[in-house]
Amino acid sequence: MIAIGSDHGGMSLKVAVIECLKSKGIKYKDFGAFTTESVDYPDYGQAVAEAVVSGECQSGIVICGTGLGISIAANKVKGIRAAVCTDPFMAKMARQHNNANILALGERVVGVGLAMEILEAWLNSDFESEGRHGSRVDKIKEIEKKYFK
Ligand code: RB5
Repeated sequence: MIAIGSDHGGMSLKVAVIECLKSKGIKYKDFGAFTTESVDYPDYGQAVAEAVVSGECQSGIVICGTGLGISIAANKVKGIRAAVCTDPFMAKMARQHNNANILALGERVVGVGLAMEILEAWLNSDFESEGRHGSRVDKIKEIEKKYFK
């Protein structure tokens, strides 16, 4: 199950992402927003992040105007590695090297066509847990242990 959420600035792209997930038969849970009324992106970044760290969802997708605010908010939840991706290569690397558990997209940055290619790369990539990438992500977790009280 994929957790998905956006603010008003990411609503249209969220609809397109959901359509893509549906067409692939991938289960998702939509944490809002559900209207185009102006809302605060941290609320939706937090909701998706909490669904991922609780284990309710295996990964997440967050979308705002730039992908920045909502990813910064999600990254404040311990255990989250949210990565803003603006091309498919970044999405592939975010999964393979950084074991990112949330993909962040910016509706005002990427068009729907590019966003679908980014999503495809994200869905088709896995973490390379053996060797240097595993130990580097472990170091990220050590930083969390030090600063997340
Ligand atoms: C909302 O106008 C906009 O600030 C938001 O979607 C996002 O881009 C923030 O990082």
